[in-house]
Amino acid sequence: MKKLLVTGGAGFIGANFVHYWLSKYPEDNVVVLDALTYAGNLENLAVVQNNENFSFVKGDICDQALVETLLIDHQVDTLVHFAAESHVDRSITGPDAFIETNILGTYSLLKAAKKCWLDDRDKPFEHRFHHVSTDEVYGTLSASDPAFTEDTAYAPNSPYSASKAASDHLVRAYHHTYGLNVTTSNCSNNYGPYHFPEKLIPLVITNILHNKSLPIYGDGMQIRDWLYVEDHAYGIDLVLNKGRIGENYNIGGNNEWANINIVKEVCALVETRFAESSELATRFPEALAAIEANTESLITYVTDRLGHDRRYAIDATKTRVELGYEPKETFETGIAKTVSWYLDNEAWWKAVMDGSYQDWVEGQYS
Ligand code: NAD
Ligand code: DAU
Repeated sequence: MKKLLVTGGAGFIGANFVHYWLSKYPEDNVVVLDALTYAGNLENLAVVQNNENFSFVKGDICDQALVETLLIDHQVDTLVHFAAESHVDRSITGPDAFIETNILGTYSLLKAAKKCWLDDRDKPFEHRFHHVSTDEVYGTLSASDPAFTEDTAYAPNSPYSASKAASDHLVRAYHHTYGLNVTTSNCSNNYGPYHFPEKLIPLVITNILHNKSLPIYGDGMQIRDWLYVEDHAYGIDLVLNKGRIGENYNIGGNNEWANINIVKEVCALVETRFAESSELATRFPEALAAIEANTESLITYVTDRLGHDRRYAIDATKTRVELGYEPKETFETGIAKTVSWYLDNEAWWKAVMDGSYQDWVEGQYS
C-alpha cells in the first residue's frame, strides 16, 4: 500500500492521474498539493472528493515547510510531481513564474524529500520521488531525424522547456549526490478530459462551438506526438512499480500529427457529432455545424510562436521493453472520447474560461 503526495493534482494530467490511481489502487492514500493557479481546478477532482483515502491541500510547492509537514503527517512514501507552469506561450510572454515554480518549486520539493526521507531517519526508508517531465527538453527535430530517446542530449528551446530541463537536472543530481530514490518520465503531448482550453485541442473544440476562429501558428506543419492522458497515467504507474531508480523513461503515443491535420480532424469529428444528434444544434446554435456549414472555414493562419519547435517524436522503446508499456487507447478512440467529453461538459469549460470558477475558489479560501 502506497501513500502518495501528488503535486499539481488539480491540473489536467495530475487530476487524471489521481482518478486513475484511486480507481486502480483503492487502498492507497492520495494527498494532492496544488496552488490552484489559473490552471488548477478543484472541480477536476470532484469525482474523488468523497473518497476517504483522498485529501486536498491548497498550497505552493515552493513552501518547503508545508511540504515537509505533509510528508511527515501523511507518512508519504511516494511523491509524484506534476505541479508546473505548463503553457509554452505563457512562458514566452512571462517566464518568471516558470522559473519560480518549475525550477525553484522542484528544488523545494527535493530539499523537503531529502530531509524527511534521508536526513531525519535513523533507518533507511523506502521512498520514491517521481518527476513528471516532457519531451520538449530534447529540443526540436527535423522531418527526417530519429525520434528522441532517453540518451538524446537536452536542448530546450523555450523558457518553459528550459525550466523543465533545469528541474530534470536537479532531480538527477539529488539521486547522484544524495542517493534520493528518483525516477523521471518524459512524455509527449497529452490530450483528453480536463485539458485547459488554452492548449491546441481543447481550444479548437471550444472555439468551434462558439464560431470563433481556429488559430494556426505559422504554416501549421509543426508535428507533435499525441497521447491520451490516461495512457500517461498508466506509464507513470509502470515507472513507479517497475522502473529502475535514477532512470528516465520516455512515454509517447507513436502518433505524430501535423497541427493543421489535427485541427481538421477535430472539425470533422464535431461535424459528425452534430449530424448524429440534433440536440447539439440547439445547445450550440453559434456553431457552423448547427447550420451544416463548413467548420474548417474557421481555420485562420496567424503569426508563428517565437522559437516554435518544428517536430517532437518519442522513441519509447526502453519503456516498452523494460516495463511492458503500450498505450491502451488508439488516437481514433481517444480523440472521439475527448470530443464527446467537451460536448458533455460545457459547464466545466465555460467556468474555467470565463474565470467564474476562479472567483468561486477565491471565495472558498479567502
Ligand atoms: P496544468 O497546467 O494543467 O496543471 C498544473 C497544475 O499545477 C495546476 O493544477 C496548478 O494549479 C498547479 N501548480 C502550478 N504552480 C504550482 C505551485 N507553485 N505549487 C503547487 N501547485 C502548482 O499542467 P499539465 O498539462 O497537467 O502538466 C502537468 C505536468 O506534466 C507538468 O509538469 C508538465 O510539464 C508535464 N507534462 C505535460 C504535458 C502535456 O501535454 N500537458 C506533456 C508532458 C509533460
Ligand atoms: O510535448 C509536451 C508538451 O506539450 C508539454 O510539455 C506542455 O506542457 C504542453 O503544453 C504541450 O506543449 P505544446 O506547445 O506542444 O502544446 P500546445 O497545445 O500549446 O500547442 C500544440 C501545437 O499547436 C504547437 O505546435 C503550437 C500549436 N498551436 C497551439 C495553439 C494554442 C497553434 O497552432 N495554435 C494555437 O492556438
